[in-house]
Amino acid sequence: MAAADILPTPAAPAAQASRELAGRIAGAIGRAGGWIGFDRYMAMALYEPALGYYAGGSRKFGADGDFVTAPELSPLFGQCLAAQCAHWFDATPAAIVEFGAGSGALAAQLLASLDALGSAPERYSIVEVSAPLRALQRETLSARVPALAGRVEWLEALPERIEGVVVANEVLDAMPVRLFRWHEGAVLERGVACVPQGGSFAFADRPADDAFAAHVLATLREAWAEGGEPAGDYVSEIGEQAQGWVATVAGRLAHGAMLLLDYGFPRTEYYHAHRSTGTLQCHYRHRVHGDPFVWPGLQDITAHVDFTAVSRAALGAGLQALGYNSQARFLLDCGLLDRLAQMPRDDARLWAKQAQAAQMLLSEAEMGELFKAIAFGRGVPDDAPGFATRDRRGALG
Ligand SMILES: C[S@@+](CC[C@H](N)C(=O)[O-])C[C@H]1O[C@@H](n2cnc3c(N)ncnc32)[C@H](O)[C@@H]1O
Repeated sequence: MAAADILPTPAAPAAQASRELAGRIAGAIGRAGGWIGFDRYMAMALYEPALGYYAGGSRKFGADGDFVTAPELSPLFGQCLAAQCAHWFDATPAAIVEFGAGSGALAAQLLASLDALGSAPERYSIVEVSAPLRALQRETLSARVPALAGRVEWLEALPERIEGVVVANEVLDAMPVRLFRWHEGAVLERGVACVPQGGSFAFADRPADDAFAAHVLATLREAWAEGGEPAGDYVSEIGEQAQGWVATVAGRLAHGAMLLLDYGFPRTEYYHAHRSTGTLQCHYRHRVHGDPFVWPGLQDITAHVDFTAVSRAALGAGLQALGYNSQARFLLDCGLLDRLAQMPRDDARLWAKQAQAAQMLLSEAEMGELFKAIAFGRGVPDDAPGFATRDRRGALG
C-alpha cells in the first residue's frame, strides 16, 4: 500500500499549500530540463520560502506535531548539555551559538540550567533558517526564561568568527542530501522527475557526473573494504551539505568547542552492504515512512548522518576531536540519572513522565544508541565530562 493511502489527510488549507509547493517544484524541474537532483527537491520541500516544511507555519515538534526531539521530551537533556557547556566555559568565552534551534526548547533549558550553575552565557546566538521557527523561539524564550531572554540574539547569517560553544541538535539530518544508485561498479545519481499524469513526482536515475561518482565510489570502497560488495542494486545518500556545513563552521570556530547530536553511524555501518536502501526517512504526524513525494511541504524529510564524514570535515578544518559516543553514554556521563533523581517527586505523575522521557533518551531501542554525540574543539582541553567513561572516536576511521 502506498504511504499516501495510510497517512492522515491534511486539512484543506495545508493541502492547498502543498499543491502550490508541488507546482513550484514542478516548475523548477521543467526549467531544469525534466530532472533535478534529490538535494534540490529536498531543499525546496523543506525550505522553500513560506511553503517548505520548515518555512511554513505547521506545528512540527511535540505530541501534536510530526516528531519529538530530545529537548521536547525532557529538560534533562538541556541540563546535561549545560553541564558539558559549563565545563567548556572554564576554557572558552561564555557564549553559545546554537544552530537550528527548533521550538527554542533547548535554548531555554541551556540558559536556565547554566544560570543555575552560575555560568549563564553572556551571549546566546541562534542561527535559524526558518522564519516561523525564529518567531516561535522568541515566544518560548520570553515565556520560559524571561530574565535571560535579553541575552539571546538571532543571526541572519553564519558568523565569520565564533568564540564559545557551538551546539546543534538534530540539524545535520535536516540538511538536503544527494542520492545515488550503485550497480556493479557504476554510479547513477537518483533525482526527481514529474509524473506525467497526477501532478506528482518520482525518482529518476541518470549517470552521475564525474566528481559525484568519484566521491560515491571512494566512500563505498572504504565502507566495503572488509565486508565485500552487495549482490544487487545499492541505493543510499551522500550528505554533502552537512559535510560542507561542518567544515565551514569548524573553520570559523576560532576558540571553543562544537557539540553535535544526531542520529547516524560511522561510515562502515552507514554504508554497510546490507543497508541497501539508504536511510532516507519522512515524518508525518508521528508516522515514519520512506516516500518523500507525499504532501511536499507538510512532512519532514531526513537522512542519517555519516559521522566519519563529519569528523573528517571538522578535523580537516583544524579542529581537535573531543569525543564521539552514543547519546545514552554521553547523557549518562553528564549525570542524567543524578539529575532525574533530584527532580521533585511531590507530583508523582510529573515525575513518572520525566522517568519515562529519560528511558526514551537512554534506551538502546529508542534514542540511546542510534543517536550520537560528537564534539570537537580548538584551544580547549581534551577532558570533556560527557565523554569521560567511554569514547568511540576510534570507530570513525
Ligand atoms: C529537526 S529540527 C531540530 C530542532 C531542534 N534543534 C530540536 O532539537 O528540537 C531541525 C532544525 O534545523 C534548522 N536548520 C536546518 N538547516 C539549517 C542550517 N543550515 N542552519 C541553521 N538551521 C538549520 C531547521 O529550520 C530546524 O529548526
